[in-house]
Amino acid sequence: MKNKTSEVNLSDLLLAWYDAERRILPWREDPTPYHVWVSEIMLQQTRVDTVIDYYQRFLRELPDVKSLAEADEERLLKLWQGLGYYSRIRNMHKAAQQVMEEYDGEIPGTPKELQKLSGIGEYVAAAISSIAFQYPVPSVDGNLLRVYARMNGYGESIRTTSARKVATAYYNEIMNRNRPGDMNQALMDLGATICLPNGAPLCERCPWSEHCTAHRQGKELEIPIKEEKKSRTQTRLTVLRIRVGNRLVIRKRPNTGLLANLYEFPNVEGWLTKEEASEACRELGLRPIKIRKLPAAKHIFSHVEWHMHGYDIEGEWISGTEPEESGRGEGAFTAGEEELREKYSIPAAFKAYLE
Ligand code: ADE
Repeated sequence: MKNKTSEVNLSDLLLAWYDAERRILPWREDPTPYHVWVSEIMLQQTRVDTVIDYYQRFLRELPDVKSLAEADEERLLKLWQGLGYYSRIRNMHKAAQQVMEEYDGEIPGTPKELQKLSGIGEYVAAAISSIAFQYPVPSVDGNLLRVYARMNGYGESIRTTSARKVATAYYNEIMNRNRPGDMNQALMDLGATICLPNGAPLCERCPWSEHCTAHRQGKELEIPIKEEKKSRTQTRLTVLRIRVGNRLVIRKRPNTGLLANLYEFPNVEGWLTKEEASEACRELGLRPIKIRKLPAAKHIFSHVEWHMHGYDIEGEWISGTEPEESGRGEGAFTAGEEELREKYSIPAAFKAYLE
């Protein structure tokens, strides 16, 4: 490591490349601690292209920590709808309340203090403190691990604590102490646009290619080593899209587990026949008038895959009237088009049946 940095200044090469090639992204325009925090939480599990619109909408509605701390959870879930991994927003909500109560509304700047906040781990803490506070600490995510592995010909799994340790030490050593935030973001851009995870990296455009072990040895495609794909639980579901007039029947999900507290179309485990789906509809208190099969759909979560069959059902309430508003905590009720758009968060898993 040492001789590489003494022969050539890797951080200068990288930052010159970043100054010329960096991606123009909204959170880079005014990198306040709050802006960086929101963007990093969104970017943790979601692609940059998807995040941009969510980020802008989120900040329009919740421009600062105080507004986030005071926001209604339903509103937050709605703003998050489609991004997935909803615990992120629940934790951020809690953390904003912590910042208001314990830090007088000021987001702390050191990785150690940041990690005391709900939902902020080592990576996000490093990103916030380097980008918003110029604290010289590397934010080691998958991109940085991959770049590290190729640069240094690291032939072992990069999904281990020891890989993270050696990568962190390496980046600490080459860290540019005047521009730590740019250094981290340059590495993220390098990983996302040049040192690609799938397929051949674009080494001819890489500022570090001459100093890269994998490139010199022609091993760009072998490093980092491929990992076994983790297997996911396969779940069969039947989704009932029940229409009452021009409204759709929805219900709230339980307050724990997958997609907790979000809204959903009624659904049942297993693949139901038309007759069984009609019966399930009656059990919800609705008489099916017309039923038709919808195309199958699939949604992949981190640990589970849903394989869905669906029915479109025209129905009416058996009792003649819809359950009272007060029953909305548990049972099924209907929502109009605008309410579905503005008020109730239906997770992306049900998207195929929402349209
Ligand atoms: N991925 C995670 N954080 C990022 C950032 N600040 N810029 C670009 N991509 C990122």
